[in-house]
Amino acid sequence: MKRVTKAVFPVAGLGTRFLPATKASPKEMMPIVDKPLIQYAVEEAVAAGISEMIFVTGRTKRAIEDHFDKAYELENELALKNKTEMLEFVQNLLPRNINCIYIRQAEALGLGHAVLCAKPVIGDEPFAVILADDLLDGEPPVMKQMTDIYDYYRCSVLGVLDVPRSDTGSYGIVKSSFVAERVERIEGIVEKPKPDDAPSTLAVVGRYILTPRIFHHLESVTPGSGGEIQLTDGIASLLIEEQVLAYRYSGTRFDCGSKLGYLQATVDFGRRHPEVGAAFTNYLANLE
Ligand code: UTP
Repeated sequence: MKRVTKAVFPVAGLGTRFLPATKASPKEMMPIVDKPLIQYAVEEAVAAGISEMIFVTGRTKRAIEDHFDKAYELENELALKNKTEMLEFVQNLLPRNINCIYIRQAEALGLGHAVLCAKPVIGDEPFAVILADDLLDGEPPVMKQMTDIYDYYRCSVLGVLDVPRSDTGSYGIVKSSFVAERVERIEGIVEKPKPDDAPSTLAVVGRYILTPRIFHHLESVTPGSGGEIQLTDGIASLLIEEQVLAYRYSGTRFDCGSKLGYLQATVDFGRRHPEVGAAFTNYLANLE
């Protein structure tokens, strides 16, 4: 069996909850202190031993491509001004062995459709899907925890967490049975059920490891909730044929697709930031 060496980053959503900030720039470029969300996500993939980063981009793709590309003018300026430390920092955003591949999702037809767009570069391999607006702070990093689970069980794995019953309408919710500590076997999955209809309160967050068989299932999914091709529906079909596991990751989640989660992440990371953490903590302590 192959190891997970490829990650798909769907970054083609419209990001309507963050308009107007997301009008000309993807929400994944929004910074938490000084690093864009997409970079936290790529670093998490690198920590899991992943070397091929596949970005499924939309109309605002340039900012992400430029972020991971060589920045000749900026590097020249920094070199001329002898800003050596900053120059090295900008030049080494990614380790040298990492490849970035960009695929265009012409229309935002849903997360399932975005993942399907990556089929030509994934081929017949298991792969990770990381939603950068779900910022997961874990040690070891959450995708590393999940590739370890994949290496052991050799099947699709979804990152999950318990949410309040009132929130089930915002997530894919699984029905599952116990396998081992933190690991459950998924028996059913539904997208955004009303609290009364939800089979549990175990919600899927933005981390997946999927076998390539998912593409076959996504190809036959018809548009579901919101007129979009839902990844959840593809997974519901996959699990009739293959085992799919839910993994209760260890770590803290910040839902940076929502304003409140984004602000919470900014405060949390800001307090721990090596440069401004102490002063910022002091500032917060003196607020009324
Ligand atoms: P969301 O459901 O958060 O949608 O997508 P969104 O468009 O990004 O944000 P809002 O709700 O309008 O504010 C979940 C993830 O799937 C990607 C998004 O970029 C995000 O990472 N996505 C969604 C796509 O890449 N393509 C799509 O067609 C839909």
